[in-house]
Amino acid sequence: MRFYLGIDVGTSGTKTLLIDEQGKVHAEASSEYPLHQPRPGWTEQDPEDWWQATVQSVRQVMQRSGRKPSDVRAIGLSGQMHGSVFLDKRNKVIRPALLWNDQRTVAECEQITAAAGGRKALIKMVANPALTGFTAPKILWMRNHEPKKFDRLAKVLLPKDEIRRRLTGEFASEVSDASGTLLLDVVKRQWSKKLLGKLDLDPDLLPPVFESEDVTGTLLPEVAEQLGLTTECKVVGGAGDCAAGAVGNGVVRRGILSTSVGTSGVMFVHSDQPQYDTAGRLHTFCHAVRGKWHMMGVNLTSGGSLQWWVDSVLKGLVGIDSDQRYAAATAEAQSIAPGSGGLLFLPYLSGERTPHADPHARGAFVGLNTTHGRGHMTRAVMEGVTFALRDSLQIIRDLDVPVREIRASGGGSRNPLWRQMQADAFGKKVSKLAVEQGPAYGVALLAAVGDGAYTSIEQACKATIEVADATPPRRAASKTYNNLFPIYQRLYQSLRADFADLAQLQ
Ligand code: XUL
Repeated sequence: MRFYLGIDVGTSGTKTLLIDEQGKVHAEASSEYPLHQPRPGWTEQDPEDWWQATVQSVRQVMQRSGRKPSDVRAIGLSGQMHGSVFLDKRNKVIRPALLWNDQRTVAECEQITAAAGGRKALIKMVANPALTGFTAPKILWMRNHEPKKFDRLAKVLLPKDEIRRRLTGEFASEVSDASGTLLLDVVKRQWSKKLLGKLDLDPDLLPPVFESEDVTGTLLPEVAEQLGLTTECKVVGGAGDCAAGAVGNGVVRRGILSTSVGTSGVMFVHSDQPQYDTAGRLHTFCHAVRGKWHMMGVNLTSGGSLQWWVDSVLKGLVGIDSDQRYAAATAEAQSIAPGSGGLLFLPYLSGERTPHADPHARGAFVGLNTTHGRGHMTRAVMEGVTFALRDSLQIIRDLDVPVREIRASGGGSRNPLWRQMQADAFGKKVSKLAVEQGPAYGVALLAAVGDGAYTSIEQACKATIEVADATPPRRAASKTYNNLFPIYQRLYQSLRADFADLAQLQ
């Protein structure tokens, strides 16, 4: 039996799992690390923390599974997208990495749009507009604000590709994650020399780019020894966590859409052709499926909103103890009727990407009255996050992208209340998988394809992924949500100018 490791370098921690060639999970382990916020709107992490978490979780998985080093034929890497690992010519990290939800690059996004000849021209070159979380504006931010550090810059890597460098000694990326740099010609699936030229960025700053299932190297001897693996173990391209999660959900065919409620919220749809939202609200990126694409809407604070509400606001209150706090809070929310008694929540705690692309947007409870209690507020947070996903679904539907099936995933969607809310708010059945393991599972499957266990990722998904049950929408709840959703949408428009003014004062 052949075995494959999937490693997902996430925002709160790294998760590693081991599957056999039939897709059965034999062991898993996670290791957490801190997120640094040196200023409001700035988010950073130390790439060394990702590496230590990778080593620790791989070693634990190997111990727990009891497998021999030579059993593991290949590794797939997944990771938080858009983060910038800045390396000097001796491969030393120059400064902490800026993350996907960092909002410091408003001016650099304008600079990129202008250099490209305007928003339309930029979308034509790289399929997407300039957004603060993407990688290219981060490189320009360093050039504008830390010129001495920029002078030392030799390579820019995405988070999982920095882990690849440490595993194999190779510089490499793959098309799905590279799409989120804003420097990939998404249609041609290669770096955009045109945009790099207009931004006066040296193409050598970027690593070669592969397809997700391609082998990009094998383990270095000292690393193989440290991890309990062999130097024959291959490392395949892998995928950004959204595409990896979609593969793990079997979203590799037209008509299947997945929602994911993790720290961020993602609505992801497969596409056989590169298809754009001309308004640039959805991202158009390469899929981890060879020669295919996807579109997705991203909400920056999705499960992160409930985490904020429970951990920062409800913390310490009666009935919310540390281990069971999410179960306790959502049980209170469950006892409240759909619509939270007319209370709405805007989940824009870190600004928002889809559909507003507004780093200054902020959270809000609107419609509070004296009958509302803690349960209403928790429910309103969960409903606001669901409405944010519905915003993306509406754009996908408006673009006539077929949606036959919706699959829910991510930590938040494991909660049956949240899945029911999604079915009710989307007016469509929402299914879940028999075993949902997220991005690490998706890239372990890509490793199996890269090693030849399957001829394609579509074949691998068909053989290993099973849909377990489906939650149908309830008519009365759907009606309530249909009435509330236009009000939810109008609230951002009403508050936009106030959010911008508030941002000036922070
Ligand atoms: C996707 C995005 C987030 C991160 C989270 O565009 O920014 O989903 O990948 O890990």
